[in-house]
Amino acid sequence: MRSTRIVEMLEVTEAAALAAGRWMGKGDKHAADNAAVEGMRAAFNEVEIDGTIVIGEGERDEAPMLFIGEKVGRGGEGIDIAVDPLEGTNLTAYGQSNSLAVLAFGPAGTLLHAPDTYMKKVAVGPAAAHVVHIDATPTENIRNVAKALKRDVEDLVVCILERDRHVDLIREVREVGARIRLISDGDVFGAVATAIEGTGIHLYLGTGAAPEGVLACAAMKCLGGCFMGRFEWRNAEEKARAVVMETCNIDDVLTMDCLVNTDEAAFIATGVTDGEMLRGVKYFGNGARTNSVAMDAKSKTVRFIETIYRTGDEKFWIRMD
Ligand code: FBP
Repeated sequence: MRSTRIVEMLEVTEAAALAAGRWMGKGDKHAADNAAVEGMRAAFNEVEIDGTIVIGEGERDEAPMLFIGEKVGRGGEGIDIAVDPLEGTNLTAYGQSNSLAVLAFGPAGTLLHAPDTYMKKVAVGPAAAHVVHIDATPTENIRNVAKALKRDVEDLVVCILERDRHVDLIREVREVGARIRLISDGDVFGAVATAIEGTGIHLYLGTGAAPEGVLACAAMKCLGGCFMGRFEWRNAEEKARAVVMETCNIDDVLTMDCLVNTDEAAFIATGVTDGEMLRGVKYFGNGARTNSVAMDAKSKTVRFIETIYRTGDEKFWIRMD
């Protein structure tokens, strides 16, 4: 059953978050990432799928676990899986907001095998999904989104990764009059937040990691928003590797159907540190609490889920907060 699959996969991101959250604020992003990877990898062993990691920790020779092409699961339905066991390693290491354990999945052969390069991205929620384009200027996109959302440009918040490569973008956004939410890391959150009212983010613009683009696109498929990209290669070798994995024209606009070629995608994220979309993991003497979102394009559901893991046999009170 679909809901069983969603809950099984939810336990996978929960396992990654529970392991990574222990490293919050300890200043060691590699240890945090390793914990998340090990937690996620072990949890996959319990799931009845014949899963293929198409976006993971790297090529087989670079990553001991969750490498691209690795088979996970106990056997069953064949699915493509994109994972980022810890999206925002620095955010966790320094106790900053919005780090997530994330995965997306779809039927076998439906998720783009995006290589570890950069991608120019634009993302927006459903109400403005048809008015943005990756090749439009930031000014055009901002004005069109403001119109679609029936707001003044001054009332829009654009999320952008704080990077030197975005100096011109940030200047243009300021000149046109929109407000900016600069983030130090974590552009899956930045993109997905545009489709969730209450996060205070209306538009995502800028260049980030390509694999994260596929993950964000899967979420936008579930939410009815728009995600569009273009690869930005750093060298010819990167592009050569991508051509081997080609499932659409990689020199062209990366449309949603190119990135996630199915209407049966699912996206699941568990908060590691507190954020606008999800709360981080809370640990208490004899248990822990996680907060996740599970989006499913097939059943058209978006579930926000609190899970309490009991670790001891002692009496246990569940507190509402
Ligand atoms: P981590 O891999 O350390 O978790 O960083 C994630 C991230 O901030 C992404 O959200 C973003 O797409 C990418 O890194 C940006 O890459 P760079 O830091 O090279 O600009």
